[in-house]
Amino acid sequence: MRVLITGGAGFIGSYLAEAYLKKGDEVYIIDDLSTGSLENIKSFQNNPHFKDRLFVFTDSIFNHDLMLELTGTCDAVFHLAAAVGVRYILDNPLESIKINIQGTEKVLELCAKFKKKVLIASSSEVYGKHLHAPLVETDNIIYGPSDKFRWSYAASKLMDEFTALAYFRTKGLKVIIARLFNTVGPRQSGAYGMVIPRLTEQALKNEPLTVYGDGTQSRTFTFVEDVVKALIALMENDAAAGEVFNIGGTEEISIFNLAEKIIKHTGSSSEVVLIPYEKAFEKDFEDMLRRVPGIEKIKKFIDFDPETDLDTILRHVIAYYREKLTSSSLI
Ligand SMILES: NC(=O)c1ccc[n+]([C@@H]2O[C@H](COP(=O)([O-])OP(=O)(O)OC[C@H]3O[C@@H](n4cnc5c(N)ncnc54)[C@H](O)[C@@H]3O)[C@@H](O)[C@H]2O)c1
Repeated sequence: MRVLITGGAGFIGSYLAEAYLKKGDEVYIIDDLSTGSLENIKSFQNNPHFKDRLFVFTDSIFNHDLMLELTGTCDAVFHLAAAVGVRYILDNPLESIKINIQGTEKVLELCAKFKKKVLIASSSEVYGKHLHAPLVETDNIIYGPSDKFRWSYAASKLMDEFTALAYFRTKGLKVIIARLFNTVGPRQSGAYGMVIPRLTEQALKNEPLTVYGDGTQSRTFTFVEDVVKALIALMENDAAAGEVFNIGGTEEISIFNLAEKIIKHTGSSSEVVLIPYEKAFEKDFEDMLRRVPGIEKIKKFIDFDPETDLDTILRHVIAYYREKLTSSSLI
């Protein structure tokens, strides 16, 4: 099979590419390296078993001719390219909306033209400001007003979902929507507000671990390899077309307790410091206080069991950052 991965040099895309290469498939990556990096694919790019089956295009999904050729060539498309991360969205508000809405529309249009099955990466952000748990795919959605810009990411991903479902309904496009909850693992960058890499780097440098708000906001974290298994299984499942799925773990932890866990795992001498949201972000920032996925639906379609627990995930991430920081002599 030939698989096209937009955003394939990103964190999740690089694991997905590697998984398909290991299965013996051909992988085509298009990535403009805005938040991704060739470093993410370096470990497998030069593997002699993969070399002839991996094709990397450092370009934007807005390059119409290239996307036309790649979509026409491949059998299945994973659309992961997006503006990602709260920090990134707040710093690049207009560009983020363009990539997330117009970019996805472009991908869907081409997949419909060539009748190629496509999986769209959506986000748990789509749910908005709920406090209940678990969040299920049929829940209502609650956002803040449009001058609170963090909701633009959620709204743009929701628009992607509507557009994808409209292509399914009107053109019969086989499209799957994956609402990813916090996905973590080695290679994830802390530069755009992702909490585990950010706190891990701080702990390894023995700097204060900066937790926003009062630290009681909670999340679940899913290991990237568990997520990738689910993405592949959904792509292989004919009944998944036209459906929306939560993908995430169910082990809920407050960010304060997460920070303390990271200090313990790293053996750091750091302390946890609480930073008010208005100091960390724009004055009118709002956080999602709780985000726990209901995974009953996905379990009915595929064998989904996110088996990697948080302690194991942290050990992997800490080992990765320890090596990275040591090689750049920062610790
Ligand atoms: N990591 C998570 O916890 C999480 C949670 C929810 C949803 N998601 C979604 O999963 C997908 C992958 O996220 P990730 O965590 O790997 O982030 P990432 O930033 O590592 O990956 C996104 C990739 O898209 C690329 N990209 C951006 N604009 C592009 C363009 N115009 N053309 C080509 N490439 C472009 C970036 O360079 C990057 O490599 C995204 O759609 C994201 O919204 C991720």
